[in-house]
Amino acid sequence: MYQAKNFDALFGTPGFSDELLKNHFALYQGYVTNTNKLAETLALMATEGRTGTPEYNELKRRFGWEFNGLRLHELYFANLKNGGVILNPEAALAQKIIVDFGSQENWEKDFRATGALRGIGWAVLYYDQIDDRLFNSWINEHDAGHLAGAKPILVMDVFEHAFMLDYGLKRADYIEVFFKNINWGEAGQRV
Ligand SMILES: [Fe+2]
Repeated sequence: MYQAKNFDALFGTPGFSDELLKNHFALYQGYVTNTNKLAETLALMATEGRTGTPEYNELKRRFGWEFNGLRLHELYFANLKNGGVILNPEAALAQKIIVDFGSQENWEKDFRATGALRGIGWAVLYYDQIDDRLFNSWINEHDAGHLAGAKPILVMDVFEHAFMLDYGLKRADYIEVFFKNINWGEAGQRV
């Protein structure tokens, strides 16, 4: 069973209203509940031999969506911190960003551009451990566009629920406050 993690420490983060965070935490808890429900139901259907049914088909397809919704939110909340933590230029992640993107500014421009894509989803800085390379990737909804085998290093939610209450349609303003509150210490540990 997955348990919802507590991210109440984020209350008071400049640029994120308590109301927005409260709603966002409730949404996240919904993914935890549904991931547990689907895992349990699918296991039961398998033991009862009900795998050839349209219900099994649909729930099986749905599982990745719910699970990724759960995990991406956990990574997102954990890579935020009230006031942020700067990226230590000596850190392996900082060095790797320069190697793969030319400079931190280049990387940041591309990550912001990724987050500004039309549609609902996520911007994720990924580390491909097999070929030692970083990528900024767009994830459509929660499930389409993940890089197989790569590690999510920095995760930014760009579903409207992540900013609309505070910024309306101004996604760029939200991306600005996201950047002010990134916990680079946490992101650096994920490499
Ligand atoms: Fe979200």
